[in-house]
Amino acid sequence: MQVRRCATLLIEPRESIGFDLNALLGGETGVRSVLEWIALTAHRDDEIALDAAEVALLGELSPNRWVSFDGLAQRHPRAVLDALLAKGLLIAQDGDGAASSEHAQHDEALRATHWRDLAAVMHRHTRWRGVDTEEAERRFSEASEQTFLERLGASPPPVRERVDARQRLSLQRPPHSALDALTERRVTCRNFDAHPLAQADFSAVLYRAFGARAVSDYAPGVQLLKKSSPSAGGLHAVEAYLLVQSVAGIAAGLYHYHPTDHALEPLHLLSADEAATLARTFVAAQAYYAQAPVLIALCARFHRNFWKYRNHAKAYRAVILDAGHLSQTLYLAATESNLGAFITAAINEADIEQAFDLDPMAEGPLAVCGFGARANKRVTVEFDPEGKVWTNSGH
Ligand SMILES: Cc1cc2nc3c(=O)[nH]c(=O)nc-3n(C[C@H](O)[C@H](O)[C@H](O)COP(=O)(O)O)c2cc1C
Repeated sequence: MQVRRCATLLIEPRESIGFDLNALLGGETGVRSVLEWIALTAHRDDEIALDAAEVALLGELSPNRWVSFDGLAQRHPRAVLDALLAKGLLIAQDGDGAASSEHAQHDEALRATHWRDLAAVMHRHTRWRGVDTEEAERRFSEASEQTFLERLGASPPPVRERVDARQRLSLQRPPHSALDALTERRVTCRNFDAHPLAQADFSAVLYRAFGARAVSDYAPGVQLLKKSSPSAGGLHAVEAYLLVQSVAGIAAGLYHYHPTDHALEPLHLLSADEAATLARTFVAAQAYYAQAPVLIALCARFHRNFWKYRNHAKAYRAVILDAGHLSQTLYLAATESNLGAFITAAINEADIEQAFDLDPMAEGPLAVCGFGARANKRVTVEFDPEGKVWTNSGH
């Protein structure tokens, strides 16, 4: 059997602070600090505790060169090697060169995607599963009587001023334009109308935000897309996966948007209740966003971007920026159609991957957007200080 270290590995010396009531009763502070080594790798979801012998051995293993397991066992304790194999940090292949375990297959798939190590570990381990932000807020307020601001103190000032006001060079304000009129009405929507969204509005917003205007044959086997937003390398690796709850003439369910055909690819039909449950899960229980008639998981096909920007230090950042651009265009397209839109980064990525059957390190959600008609009345707060969308009475 041949072995090598897994492709990505970050070993974190972590301090966990706990509380020991008995120690407190015994006259001590009761605060217990536990220091341990935690391995984070991009081919596994779990955080893996290591002992000092495992850490030392990992430092001696190549992530690239295969070596004989028996040869290693002559120089290192067998128990440590077996532990690393079981933890999926030592990867084995059998005599035919085939991956010998599920961990080994995931490690192989990760290598083929060309992630930068740090970005890969960060992406994998910042994903949520089953997080309920409403519940977390409840626990937060129960734990202390202090308000959020009392705990955090004042924020840093809104603007960093580098020179004295008298030294500033004043610039001319432009005449009011159509773009100004549109962007003034771009207000994140947290109050959606319960009636089904008109299909024409649904289709128009999708086309303007995600539709490809042209497909360019850049080179043999390489096609670039022209859309309304910029994209790193023109690759448009971020695609729209839809959870349709309430659109006239379209069954509730999960869909993939086809950007060159401007069409929906049905993946899984849902009852209204199933769709509502999934919507709540997608946005980590933010009830006001879960009510949107259409939710869109912006999912990056990492392998498309990393095909070009392979192992690049900035590639992951570029993909996230692509998602941000798409979101702003979605907001503007919705606003132009007199609809409201939102984006949230507080999402349960792992649940979304499962719903759409996505391999997390090949293709995964970065944010969830949504849009729909605004309700007549504002129940949940929106940021509209100039009253461009809502009057002060909330209508
Ligand atoms: C990356 C990103 C993440 C956001 N996440 C959340 C969120 O989790 N929950 C939420 O209510 N709003 C979220 N928002 C919306 C912001 O709260 C909103 O943009 C902000 O309050 C300013 O309001 P405006 O968009 O109407 O100007 C997010 C916005 C961005 C750009």
